[in-house]
Order: sequence, then structure tokens, then C-alpha cells
Amino acid sequence: MKDFLAISDYSSAEVRDMLDLAVRLKQEYFTKGNQPIFKGKVLGMIFQKPSLRTRVSFDMAMRHCGGDALYLSPNEIGLGKRESIADVARVLSGYVQALMARVFEHEHVLELAKWSSIPVVNGLSDYNHPCQGMADALTIVEKFGNQQGLNVTFVGDGNNVAVSLMHVSAKLGWNFTLASPEGYDLDPKAVNVANTISAETGSTLSFVRDPHAAVKNAHVIYTDTWTSMGQEEETAKREKVFPPYQVNAKLVGEADKDVIVMHCLPAHRNHELTDEVADGPHSVIFPQAHNRLHAQKAILARLLGVA
Ligand code: CP
Ligand code: NVA
Repeated sequence: MKDFLAISDYSSAEVRDMLDLAVRLKQEYFTKGNQPIFKGKVLGMIFQKPSLRTRVSFDMAMRHCGGDALYLSPNEIGLGKRESIADVARVLSGYVQALMARVFEHEHVLELAKWSSIPVVNGLSDYNHPCQGMADALTIVEKFGNQQGLNVTFVGDGNNVAVSLMHVSAKLGWNFTLASPEGYDLDPKAVNVANTISAETGSTLSFVRDPHAAVKNAHVIYTDTWTSMGQEEETAKREKVFPPYQVNAKLVGEADKDVIVMHCLPAHRNHELTDEVADGPHSVIFPQAHNRLHAQKAILARLLGVA
């Protein structure tokens, strides 16, 4: 596989292999430091939207392993505006060894991948957020081990982060539930893909309206912003719809006693996630953010064929 655009493009075995590698690279980083496996390699990072975690964790992933990263801001590149995506892809393919792109439209990262001769990593699109999904899976495996049948519940908007969480859960044989208000369901195309995966792995998928029913027996409660980047004009409307889907202490108290609470961040505290829960004993939001670093080293290593 040349690119990393969606978790669903990879087999369950390949996803497990990348997670195993992430575990190994994380352990190595904390014991003796990583080997310079990215020496001589530069990752070009195209951003059409803001970022803290994705930008810094990819940059540090490259530096820890002897490589480098180059940040390309929306204004500099003007992807598809100043220059066509196909031309940007072909020019950058001669300068850097891999690309990471955060885009508005998923089609744009597909177009970049089509025209690049180097690996392209999806750093978030309107459709999905596969690097986040891999870090999320790493965090879940660290807590519960890689066992079949874990119950992973996403509460809130059926958005890009939910798509990747659903796909990685299906790949790893975990049961995925989404509790969302009407009108904020998951992309039907993504659900079809997940149905195909779960038919092979034995995971179950459930889509409900009631967050209380959804968290019963949950090992993981996951939430994300009610308004994703690019939907800002809908903020007021969404702030009215989503309050019943807030992840608060009452909701967490209805889940498995060992439940972990996850959020990809940035969090809108006391909107989708209360301070009490975010900073409470079930929260893993900061180890989860830190796992972006280790998961992405593994993704890059596999794409560059160096580990
Ligand atoms: N979770 C995540 O992708 O964060 P950033 O938007 O800060 O990169
Ligand atoms: N769903 C959010 C995730 C941010 C990391 C967004 O797309 O803005």
C-alpha cells in the first residue's frame, strides 16, 4: 500500500502489525531512544486547517527517528487554488520523501495520493481521521489488551473521527456503537464499509439515539467536538441539539466500571465533555494525544519501508 488514507484500506492483520510496531517504537523511545530509521527523509506537511497534535506529533516523529519535517501553511500552498493539486503533488514528489495532508474535502487527499509518486498520509479530511484512529486503538489496546468484543461507544456527532474509530474497531473485532441525534448520523458510505469489515471480524455495529442506552457496558466512551472545522456557521444550531449528548459524570457512571473516556482533542470543555470527566479518573485524553506520536512513527515506517 503506497498511502495511508483510510484504515479500511488495510487488512486486520496489517492494522494489528502497525499497532504492534507502534508499541515497539514507543517502548524503544522511552528506553533507549529510537533508531534513526527516517535518516535522510523529509515529510512535507500540507495543512488547510489548524492543528496542534497532528502538526507537532508528525514533526517530532520524524525528528526522533533522524528525519525532518516541513510545515506548509494554507497560504503558502493554496492547494487547488494557486496551483492544481495534481501539480503540487508532482512537484513535491521530487523534493520530499512522504507527504501528510490535512484537507477540507476528502477528494483532495485522494487526488494528492493519485498524483504523488511518494506516500501520502491523510492527516484529517471531512470524511475521516485515520491517524487519530490508530492512536485511539493503541490507547485502547494499552488499557485492555487486544481482546475481541470490547464495547466502544462514540457519543455525539457522526463525524470524521467517529468514522475512523468505527473502522478500526471493526477491524479489531470490537463492538462499535454510535449515539447521535437525528441528522448527525455517520456517512452511509462509511457504514457500508464498516458492515463489510465486521462481517469478517465478528464485531457488531449499533446506531442509536439514546446516549444512556449506548454507554451501558461500554469499555470506551469517546466524544468529539459538536462542530468540526469547516462547519463553524452551524455552531449555534448544533449547540442547541447536542447538550443531551454531553459526556458528564452521570453518563460515565452508567458504563462499565473500568470505562475509559477518550477525546481526540481539541476539547470544548463543559460542552461535549465536562471538566470533571476530562480531568477525572476515567479520562485518558492526554496519553491518547501522546500516542499520536508513536502510532504515526509506525505508519510512516511501514509506508517508507524502514522498520
Ligand atoms: N486530534 C487532532 O487531530 O488534533 P489537531 O487538530 O490539533 O491536530
Ligand atoms: N472532528 C474534528 C476533529 C479535530 C481533530 C474536526 O474535524 O474539526
